[in-house]
Amino acid sequence: MLLDTLDRPLRDLRISVTDRCHFRCVYCMPKEVFGGDFQFLDRKELLTFEEITRLACVFVAQGVQKIRVTGGEPLVRRDLERLIAMLSPIPGVDLTLTTNGSLLAKKARALKEAGLQRVTVSLDSLDDAVFKAMNDVDFPVAKVLEGIEAAASVGLAPVKINMVVKRGMNEHSIVPMARRFKGTGHILRFIEYMDVGHTNGWRLDDVVPAAEIIATLDAALPLEPLDPNYRGEVANRWRYRDGSGEVGVIASVTQAFCRDCTRARLSAEGSLYTCLFGIKGFDLRAMVRGGASDAEIAQAVGRVWRVRSDRYSEIRSEATVGLPKVEMSHIGG
Ligand code: GTP
Ligand code: 5AD
Ligand code: SF4
Ligand code: SF4
Repeated sequence: MLLDTLDRPLRDLRISVTDRCHFRCVYCMPKEVFGGDFQFLDRKELLTFEEITRLACVFVAQGVQKIRVTGGEPLVRRDLERLIAMLSPIPGVDLTLTTNGSLLAKKARALKEAGLQRVTVSLDSLDDAVFKAMNDVDFPVAKVLEGIEAAASVGLAPVKINMVVKRGMNEHSIVPMARRFKGTGHILRFIEYMDVGHTNGWRLDDVVPAAEIIATLDAALPLEPLDPNYRGEVANRWRYRDGSGEVGVIASVTQAFCRDCTRARLSAEGSLYTCLFGIKGFDLRAMVRGGASDAEIAQAVGRVWRVRSDRYSEIRSEATVGLPKVEMSHIGG
């Protein structure tokens, strides 16, 4: 059976190129856990760019149409533009990257020239005190804004901006963020804080539901809903009634979208996960380094994908929160 004919075909591949990041976002890599003695992957454990490209080609032959390069922070992987230049010639693929923006001003042009199409930049507030409290490494807002503008100016557009909303931390930044990016052509997306991994101390009370985010926004800047661009789009789209642009809300806690989930994730050391909340991946690196052919790898991917029953966000409960899930910094957003 072709993976294409399945109820949830394999369409997106998210490739993590490193589990490292110089931020310590409270919702992703809390300092208490990812502190000085945390054991990150060793360089030789990481897939090489050649190995990643080979696997990407196998996935594309299985129906993948979108590749997102993630991390950790992907731009801390040295010469990342070389990987982009290897992936961008693969025909029929939308190639994007998610970054915290800190190195983007420096890297935007090289990434564009290597063939990257778009970027998504994480930014949780325009208020330095709030943003620094969330990234937990004192990183200033201005540097991220510089990165966003650099990306837009070289044509990595539209730039999407991801804001994770955490109760008691940054819900007051919702309207200022919207005002700042309204009319710029950038697309701001508000993300419900999720219980990825098991280190961020997630509690349901910390989640600001999408409905509340939209009501807050709509009261200040009137909105109307937009249709999805395609089946299974992660963000619900809204437009400003005055025609000055769109925003999105990613409601993976209050309105789970597993039934349309077409995403696979490849961790930096080459394990395949069929869900963001997976426990154990399937070791593709062993196959690659053990001399398997492309056909054998494709068969293995097909076997893993066909039996996939992941629906974590739909079955999330107080009881599932404690499961030993993989960390987001490990498999990528
Ligand atoms: P675009 O094609 O650029 O629109 O990408 P996207 O909408 O898939 O967005 P992106 O990759 O930036 O994902 C945004 C955020 O949505 C992620 O950082 C996660 O917080 C969340 N997210 C993305 N994919 C999934 C998923 O499969 N499951 C869950 N639960 N959350 C997801
Ligand atoms: N909840 C929701 N999104 C998260 N991200 C990381 N951790 C979380 C979490 N706990 C996402 C953000 C960020 C991307 C790199 O990962 O969208 O922009
Ligand atoms: Fe780093 Fe992104 Fe995780 Fe923040 S969310 S710690 S920037 S990988
Ligand atoms: Fe897909 Fe798992 Fe996210 Fe559901 S929780 S949308 S199955 S990655």
